[in-house]
Amino acid sequence: MEYDNEENTWRRPSVPKAGRVRCEPIPRRSTTVAVVVLGLAVLSCLLGYCVLSETLPYETRTLRLVIIFFRHGARTPTTTYKSDPFKVYQWPEGLGGLTNLGKLQLYELGKKYRNYYANFIDGEYYEKDVYVRSSDKSRCLMSAYTFLAGLYPPSERQTWHPEIPWQPIPVHSLPRDLDNIVASTKACNVWKAMYDELIEETSSDAKYTELYDYLSKYTNQTMRNVRDVDFLYSTLLSQQEAGLKLPEWTKNVFPNKMRTPFMLSLALLSYNETLQRFQVGPLFSEMKENLEKSVSYQPEDHGPAPRSLFVYSGHDVNVVGVWRALGYGLLEPEYGASLVFELHEENAQNFFLKVFYRNNTKIEVPMELKLPFCDDPCPYSQFVQHIDKLIPKDWEAECQNIAH
Ligand SMILES: *[C@@H]1O[C@H](CO)[C@@H](O)[C@H](O)[C@H]1NC(C)=O
Ligand SMILES: *[C@@H]1O[C@H](CO)[C@@H](O)[C@H](O)[C@H]1NC(C)=O
Ligand SMILES: *[C@@H]1O[C@H](CO)[C@@H](O)[C@H](O)[C@H]1NC(C)=O
Repeated sequence: MEYDNEENTWRRPSVPKAGRVRCEPIPRRSTTVAVVVLGLAVLSCLLGYCVLSETLPYETRTLRLVIIFFRHGARTPTTTYKSDPFKVYQWPEGLGGLTNLGKLQLYELGKKYRNYYANFIDGEYYEKDVYVRSSDKSRCLMSAYTFLAGLYPPSERQTWHPEIPWQPIPVHSLPRDLDNIVASTKACNVWKAMYDELIEETSSDAKYTELYDYLSKYTNQTMRNVRDVDFLYSTLLSQQEAGLKLPEWTKNVFPNKMRTPFMLSLALLSYNETLQRFQVGPLFSEMKENLEKSVSYQPEDHGPAPRSLFVYSGHDVNVVGVWRALGYGLLEPEYGASLVFELHEENAQNFFLKVFYRNNTKIEVPMELKLPFCDDPCPYSQFVQHIDKLIPKDWEAECQNIAH
């Protein structure tokens, strides 16, 4: 931005916006090649997309709806353990707080999606286009805000303060005890009983006895199931990332020997289809509703177009829940890892879905997933049929939550 002294306002420089679709100049090896390549590039840009752009790896004219589900950014440890040398360490952000690195990660992710979907997501924020939902945990809310700062830098018209290249964008959230959509922290009796049973099973798994004993000895506290390993693993990981020197004993087990039980612990919350119905079903129900709205929209009826972008900000276990509900196995989602669902329409009324995973906020091009339950490309009806199986008709009743 440049400050215009005459008009007392900030202006965007007149050069094209960074990250917009660019047709880079071609290095001049031979004029003929250059002319041909340039000609092709111009032609493809005229066709509505630019093949030379890294930001748009495939055709987007068919894109109708995008749903992004990400994990929050880097955080401080959420817990400590008995023999923890850093037990009294004063984390400026408090326990489980989003760090500056974490803020930056999600900001960068927002910018990545801004570039990647430059031809799809409007350069200006309009409430009618986008809906953002977050877990009510501060680190998720804050991650959503910095993500949106990267995704929707204010246009000139939307700039409301010359010193703040940012605009407020609402992030919705339900209190934790009511949230069965993003964080899946709302109480559910049937789910809880099954989950406890699975955790208990891991405590008698001979495969991990040696690890549990070792960890119990050195942490000076009882470590007897994969969830205990999970909490310790997460704590050690955030301490290490913060540059703290971990105790010697950790070298034998962290991260390698602890990684699989850690991933298993994340997976147990949504271990099989029954648990997924409770953990992921309500989110899938919301997704299905929004997909349906998009599919049934008829522009010629001149009604308001349905929203075309949904963003969810959650935790590692939530990313794993969706991942498993798509039929995949163990996963250790990094900070800012994201799953993306794209609804496409090819020819008229021929809808299909594409799903991508972006491992972290540095990845340039997301990895396309081959859905195990679906043809390739995955027809809309087949996709909906799959998620439908995981959507409870009445979540409360199926949970056997007794009304007080
Ligand atoms: C382990 O815990 C016991 C009982 O709480 C305590 O007496 C002992 O000092 C602890 N040892 C270490 C190494 O923290
Ligand atoms: C899922 O696991 C729970 C706990 O072990 C079990 O009660 C339930 O029957 C399982 N569901 C399926 C579909 O296997
Ligand atoms: C990204 O994550 C997937 C799933 O865990 C993994 O198979 C793949 O190797 C990862 N890619 C990179 C570049 O880390």
